[in-house]
Amino acid sequence: MLKSGGADPDRVALLAGVVKRSADNIYGLIEDIFDFVKSGHTHLRKERQPLEPLLEALAYQAKSIAPAKVETLLAAEPGLALSLDRRRLSRALFNLIKNAIEAMPTGGVLSLSARRAADTVEIEVADTGVGIEPERLERIWDQFYTHGKAQGTGLGMAIVKKIVEDHGWRVAARSTLGQGTAFTITAPAEE
Ligand SMILES: Nc1ncnc2c1ncn2[C@@H]1O[C@H](COP(=O)(O)OP(=O)(O)OP(=O)(O)O)[C@@H](O)[C@H]1O
Ligand SMILES: [Mg+2]
Repeated sequence: MLKSGGADPDRVALLAGVVKRSADNIYGLIEDIFDFVKSGHTHLRKERQPLEPLLEALAYQAKSIAPAKVETLLAAEPGLALSLDRRRLSRALFNLIKNAIEAMPTGGVLSLSARRAADTVEIEVADTGVGIEPERLERIWDQFYTHGKAQGTGLGMAIVKKIVEDHGWRVAARSTLGQGTAFTITAPAEE
């Protein structure tokens, strides 16, 4: 389209936006991989962020990559906020979302949620996909551990763990084979 003369300026502007966002994404991905390869703590750019719009943006992204037979549900308690590095936490959640979608090749439900527990805030990404055998559940966090995928690099979950722990938070997995998997990120509640 860019080559053909007399292209519609609105379409060119739209396309330029898409190209810029893709480039920013690739830049962000490279930055995350460097963070991950470097040992030690990463400097986070933390700001207090409301969780509801952050999860809404991720649900929108999830819908754009998920096949039609995957339904995306969002249940974020309004008013929750945490001090976080938005770009990096979004990367971590997106890695979880991508795995969840990949675990549901014949369809299912992807649920994104955020809720307040006693002294903590829990962010959860859950799927109704293939599940993980108990003996494999510990290994999913390992660098380069991939199972059941033709194109997997095995870095997604290791990056999730690194980003969550750099925030001083925890991430846990529970799964039932044939029924699905849920990942919960737990952060101390901030008043
Ligand atoms: N929601 C899930 N359901 C089922 N299996 C999962 C889920 N999340 C992770 N896994 C398993 O953990 C493995 C490691 O995940 P990880 O994201 O680190 O790597 P990958 O998805 O294989 O590759 P990459 O994310 O780099 O493309 C996956 O290959 C898969 O077997
Ligand atoms: Mg992955």
